[in-house]
Amino acid sequence: SAQLVVAIDGTSGSGKSSTSRGVAARLGLRYLDTGAMFRAVTWWLLREGVDVHDTDAVAARVHEPAILVGTDPAGPGIMIDGVDVAVAIRTDEVNAAVSPVSVVPAVRSRLLELQRDIIGSGGIVVEGRDIGSVVWPDAQVKVFLTADPAARAARRAAEEGGSDLTATEQSLLNRDQIDSGRATAPLVRADGAVEIDSTTASLEEVIAQVVGLAESVE
Ligand code: C5P
Repeated sequence: SAQLVVAIDGTSGSGKSSTSRGVAARLGLRYLDTGAMFRAVTWWLLREGVDVHDTDAVAARVHEPAILVGTDPAGPGIMIDGVDVAVAIRTDEVNAAVSPVSVVPAVRSRLLELQRDIIGSGGIVVEGRDIGSVVWPDAQVKVFLTADPAARAARRAAEEGGSDLTATEQSLLNRDQIDSGRATAPLVRADGAVEIDSTTASLEEVIAQVVGLAESVE
């Protein structure tokens, strides 16, 4: 029988990464951060001087760089074109460019193939926007994680060491709007996904809830 796949989708800053890593660590599973893959491609396009709003230019270049993604929940790591970009993909510049890049079908199809290869026969927690709907619709556990925008912005600003709250919230909402409105693999709650609102829940509570879902299907 297929090994467990836990799909965790949701809005920007809803706590997907902390939750996914915590669940993977608790259950001894691998972890895949698909957002990091879109961020790495975006970082590389910016470095190459490609106009990220020019769909044809983005599509023409996306197959060039080698992409290597780790799956250890304690420190997954990501390299593109031989460069370790784990830190570089978290800048405001990448935040602002990643959703426009992620709209481009050629970007999505290249990363979809890589994501399915990495998921392989399962035993993994995968976070993103379209995991339960497109990447792995057969996932035994699907979660749609949300939280109020103000709560998401407060958490993200704290992680970033005191960024401006209003600007952080605006950046999250801009990404949500582009991610939800795109034609290919938009952010949606997948069929069968359990919605968890983390506005008032602690990280430990959300992790425990997802672990409970995973244990109930095993
Ligand atoms: O999860 P994270 O905030 O790092 O994702 C960054 C961006 O990558 C998202 O805002 C979205 O535009 C894109 N993304 C996507 N599909 C995924 C994961 C991320 O389009 N499965």
